[in-house]
Amino acid sequence: MLAWTMAKEDLPRRIEFFQRRGFSERTRNWESRLDLSTADTTPFHGYIEKALKDGITFTTLSEEQSHGQDSLRKIHELVQLIQTDMPREADFTPLSYEDWETYSLKNPQLLPEGYFLAKEGSNFVGMSDVHRIDSEHGVLNQDDTGVIREYRGRGIATALKLKVINFGKKNGYRTIKTWNDSVNASMLAINNKLGFRRKVGWILMEKILRSETLVCFRRLVEAADLPNKLQRSSPNLLVGGRRIEVEQGSNISTHSQHFRVLKGLYGIYYRKTPPQ
Ligand SMILES: CC(C)(COP(=O)(O)OP(=O)(O)OC[C@H]1O[C@@H](n2cnc3c(N)ncnc32)[C@H](O)[C@@H]1OP(=O)(O)O)[C@@H](O)C(=O)NCCC(=O)NCCS
Repeated sequence: MLAWTMAKEDLPRRIEFFQRRGFSERTRNWESRLDLSTADTTPFHGYIEKALKDGITFTTLSEEQSHGQDSLRKIHELVQLIQTDMPREADFTPLSYEDWETYSLKNPQLLPEGYFLAKEGSNFVGMSDVHRIDSEHGVLNQDDTGVIREYRGRGIATALKLKVINFGKKNGYRTIKTWNDSVNASMLAINNKLGFRRKVGWILMEKILRSETLVCFRRLVEAADLPNKLQRSSPNLLVGGRRIEVEQGSNISTHSQHFRVLKGLYGIYYRKTPPQ
C-alpha cells in the first residue's frame, strides 16, 4: 500500500513535514505557460518545412474523423504507444478503443481542429493536441504531445507544437498551459525553445506502507513459528495449510506469492518480490 501526497516546491515546511514522516520525492511536475499574444513562431517554421521535405504530412482529428473508424482506430493505437513512453508515477494501463473514445473523442472540451497529427503515408507517427477549458476563457490546455520512437529527434514534435500554437493564435486564445515531468528533458527543451515559461512545480511524495497481503502473510508465518524453523533451514514448511518453499535459507515463496525474508534488528521482515 502506497501513500501519496502533493507538495508545492516553494513550500519547504510542508515538504519537511512529510519527509520527517518517511515520505520521499517520487516525481516533480512543472506547469508552463505560453503567452500567445507575444509568442513568435516565425524563427521555427523551418521545423515544419523540414518535416514536409522528409515526407511527413500533417492532418487534424477533425479531418481524420471524416475518414471513419479505421483512421480513428489507428489514432487510438498511436496514443497508446505515445502514452506508454510518458514519464509517470505508476505503470501505464492502455485504454481500450471504446474507453479512449468515451474519454477523448466524447470529451465536451475536445477541439478536433486543434488536435494535430503527423503521418508518413497512411501511418500515424506523432500528435499534439489541446482542449479548451470552460472555466478559463481564452486558455488552452495542452494534452498529449508525442512521436513514435523510430521518428524521434527529427523535429516532428516541434513542428506539431508549432501547429498547435498557430491554431491558438488564429482562434483568439491568449494562453496555452501545459504540465511536464521534470525528467522529460526533450519535451522541456521544446517548450522552452518555443517560449513556454515555467511556474512553481509540484512534488509528488510517496511513502510505502505495509501491504495487507504482507500483514496476513506475516500472521500466518508467525503462527507457524517460521522464524525459528527458518533458522533450522527446514526445506519445506506448511504455513496455514499452504506449502512454503525455503530457498537458500532466505527466500520463501508460496505458489501464488513470492516473499523475501530479511533478518532485521527486530526479527524477520517479509517483503513481496516479483515472481521469478
Ligand atoms: C518528447 C517527444 C515528444 C519529443 O519528440 P521529438 O520528435 O523527438 O522532438 P523534436 O525532435 O521535435 O525535438 C526534440 C528536442 O529536444 C532536444 N533534446 C533531446 N534530448 C534532450 C536532452 N536530454 N536535454 C536537452 N534537450 C534535449 C533536442 O535537441 C531537440 O531540440 P532541437 O530541435 O532544438 O535540437 C518524444 O520523445 C516522445 O514522444 N516522448 C514520449 C511521450 C512524451 O513524453 N511526451 C511528452 C509528455 S508531456
